[in-house]
Amino acid sequence: MKVLDKKFELFISAEKIIEKVKTIAQTIEEDYKDKTPTFLVILNGAFMFAADLMKYYKGPCKVSFMRLSSYEGTTSSGKIKKHVEADNLQNEDVIIIEDIVDTGNSLEYIFNYLETQHVKSKRMACMFHKPDAYQKAYSIDYIGMNIPDKFILGYGLDYDGYGRNLSDIYQLKTS
Ligand code: IMP
Ligand code: MG
Repeated sequence: MKVLDKKFELFISAEKIIEKVKTIAQTIEEDYKDKTPTFLVILNGAFMFAADLMKYYKGPCKVSFMRLSSYEGTTSSGKIKKHVEADNLQNEDVIIIEDIVDTGNSLEYIFNYLETQHVKSKRMACMFHKPDAYQKAYSIDYIGMNIPDKFILGYGLDYDGYGRNLSDIYQLKTS
């Protein structure tokens, strides 16, 4: 499949992704049995994962959004910009919802931000994680799938704005 100037090949099917989403939803539900978590969805990339996760999460919860950007093309620029501010998170049990944790720069930014917001507790859930690209030491509480350090597309993740609507995950073809 071609998107702009790059070729991509099918990497992870929508069925496999949904299975993992259900598992994460159930695990969080058990962990937060006596709590009402606030899911903090990091836009844009996490919108699809968040929507699916919320459909399978049956306990009481709140959902809030924050928009950050860092990627330029197929590499992380390292400079995080905040475009949309979250609701008041004071005293909330926050669960950060990310599409993918790559270098961990965004995660660090979010953790630093939450330090200033007087939250009750914070945890982190992501659909994908690239352990080989990760440069931080924060533990990630819920991970859908560990994947190799290669650019992926689909399920909310984009290449220069395109491909977010794909329900399967595609990987950049390098050969
Ligand atoms: P990090 O700050 O390097 O951990 O990555 C932050 C953000 O970059 C993620 O939340 C994604 O939105 C985006 N990103 C990271 N890896 C990929 C990828 O392989 N494809 C598309 N977007 C990505
Ligand atoms: Mg993201």
